[in-house]
Amino acid sequence: MLPEVLQDRAALYVSGAMNADERSNFELVLEFHHELKAHVERLTKLGIVMLAARDAEHMAPPPELRNRLLVALESREQQAGPEVLVVAGPDCRVQQVNSAFFEMCGYTIDDVRGRKPSEVLQGPETEKAAIDRIRGALRDRTPCTETLINYHRDGSRYRVRLSITPILDDAGEPLWFVAKERKLEAL
Ligand SMILES: Cc1cc2nc3c(=O)[nH]c(=O)nc-3n(C[C@H](O)[C@H](O)[C@H](O)COP(=O)(O)O)c2cc1C
Repeated sequence: MLPEVLQDRAALYVSGAMNADERSNFELVLEFHHELKAHVERLTKLGIVMLAARDAEHMAPPPELRNRLLVALESREQQAGPEVLVVAGPDCRVQQVNSAFFEMCGYTIDDVRGRKPSEVLQGPETEKAAIDRIRGALRDRTPCTETLINYHRDGSRYRVRLSITPILDDAGEPLWFVAKERKLEAL
């Protein structure tokens, strides 16, 4: 059974009542939360059926939406390396990673589950100022984007760009921290 806070969010998402930031944060959660995704799909199907019953004209996607999707697709294809997803709990310890994580750094989920990414991926040349900014953003529960040096499992370095987004409950407490990361280059 999904927690009530997530059911409420799903209803807001499907009904179009979220603003752009809320939508993109919710879509981050959908990428790893399969039960929530199935729930959203059920709600969406229900919505489409209701819409079709009401007015068939509204079924075609508006041209602006089509253009926006095409631009988003193009900019994704231009980026280097596959996108890595890291999900941490409120304690900043890893709960889940996608398969691109292993390709990026050589660690598996079993190597990192329950640990802080910093314990595993950072080293002597990781920029201290960037670490401080990330720590501050996590403490303040605000999103942050940083580029810094990390270390592969074999000890060699790479440059990574990461964006961390806090997903907050209605009381403003973090449910998860979700990071999207991209290896820019091996060093
Ligand atoms: C979801 C998530 C993913 C993270 N991924 C990385 C990462 O790939 N590389 C990195 O250097 N730090 C990463 N961090 C940041 C560190 O784990 C840590 O929070 C940061 O260094 C500041 O805290 P500290 O004082 O514990 O070092 C991530 C944090 C979170 C919450």
